[in-house]
Amino acid sequence: MKRFYIHTIGCQMNVYDSSQLSAILTAMGHRSVNAPEQADLVFVNTCTIRAKAKQKATSFVGRLAAMKRTRPGMIIGVGGCLAQEEGRRILDAFACVDIVFGTHALGRLPGHIQAVAHQGDRIVDVEMTAAIDESVHALQEPDSTGVTGFVTIMRGCDNFCTYCVVPYVRGRETSRTPDHILDEIRARVAGGLREITLLGQNVNSYGKKEGLCSFAELLAGVNQIDGLRRIRFTTSHPKDLSPELATAFTSLDKLCSHVHLPAQSGSDAVLKRMNRHYTRQTYLEKLHWLREARPGMALSTDIIVGFPGETEQDFLQTMDLVEKVRYDSIFAFMYSDRPLAPAREFGGKVDEAEKQRRIYALLELQNRITAEKNRALEGRVKAVLVEGASKSSGRSGITADTVQWTGRTTCNRVANFTVPRGLANGNAVGPGAMVRVEIMSGLAHSLSGIAVGVEKPGAGGNAHAA
Ligand code: SAH
Ligand code: SF4
Ligand code: F3S
Repeated sequence: MKRFYIHTIGCQMNVYDSSQLSAILTAMGHRSVNAPEQADLVFVNTCTIRAKAKQKATSFVGRLAAMKRTRPGMIIGVGGCLAQEEGRRILDAFACVDIVFGTHALGRLPGHIQAVAHQGDRIVDVEMTAAIDESVHALQEPDSTGVTGFVTIMRGCDNFCTYCVVPYVRGRETSRTPDHILDEIRARVAGGLREITLLGQNVNSYGKKEGLCSFAELLAGVNQIDGLRRIRFTTSHPKDLSPELATAFTSLDKLCSHVHLPAQSGSDAVLKRMNRHYTRQTYLEKLHWLREARPGMALSTDIIVGFPGETEQDFLQTMDLVEKVRYDSIFAFMYSDRPLAPAREFGGKVDEAEKQRRIYALLELQNRITAEKNRALEGRVKAVLVEGASKSSGRSGITADTVQWTGRTTCNRVANFTVPRGLANGNAVGPGAMVRVEIMSGLAHSLSGIAVGVEKPGAGGNAHAA
């Protein structure tokens, strides 16, 4: 039995992959610990989406190198997207690293760990496979089922946006079967899961290549799982968002009122050079379908500023899009050259200071919109699925009846709240409970309020109401 620690960098997909890695290591008889200093096996699950993600990974491996000098028996593995991209170069650059494993190698890891432990091998496994290894998905991470969780429904990407490294490091788009996905969610709901987020780089093209069911049909299947309260999904590519998916928002009661639909830019010229296959206008039409299907639906997006050749006019089009749509939140990124992505060779590179100026202007605009939207919720009552005690709870001086709970509204807003003494059934508040919260203040990035009602445990019903 060895003690293991996993450090995760990157997107939700990596978080899910790390939970699988944890399940694999646990099935091998190892035990998870809370700090790398206490671990015999340390894994870094890496990302390479922007240059900064790569820097984070290399600085963490640098820390591990120092630790290994005092504990030479430590085994260090570097996995995920950067590992897939760099392969052997990681072994060459870091003498402390024993295993480099790519995005399709999780199932083969137990053999690699044995080879390192018993023969002292140094291993690189960046082989890509056509089929998804379902034996890895079948392992459940023990004791980890929280109220909310992720499930990967497909891996890889076939879209080749010109700035993006994902198709090169995650491989071709491949969907898991509905049966495997539904079985996994059912098992996790039995363990306490109440909200699932379905993950893929482009969930709207789920199953198309394999001739499985459509994404909307998959959602309908998930909606029927007893005990599950809420369904979210990410990411949707605007070009593949279908009327059928918009209609799903009229019929599926567990589907949350939030869609993340990355626009990347508000300028058609830039969208074309990004290879996104939609225009500003077709994008806006699709948002209209969604808002028609589910009035009040929250929308969020990803924006890249300073893509090669982006002029001030192009940028102002993006600002205008954000102003028009009035997103509930946005993720904004400064364009970053990636060695494998073709845009690195595009002319018209925007300098760093200009990218900074643009991102500040964009974030300032969005902060204003988010604050306005949050303030408009003051006095309203919202259904909140409780995830746990909020960070401020547990501080000295806070007693049980002033515990602050935290959860999210169906629109994906974080809501912190207290439960007044004497609230009927107030003692049923805890992780997994659905609580009606009156919003007292709409803050910059969250809501805060007071519980006004608690649903009886085990009740079903409409999770997006209120
Ligand atoms: N599959 C998703 C996005 C995955 S990557 C989609 O198609 O929308 C997450 C986000 O990172 C992207 O939406 C994009 O905004 C950003 N991103 C990707 N490559 C980037 C790069 N080279 N520089 C800056 N941001 C990038
Ligand atoms: Fe990258 Fe585009 Fe695929 Fe998203 S759709 S992962 S941005 S290539
Ligand atoms: Fe995710 Fe980063 Fe890979 S965003 S898909 S972990 S490159």
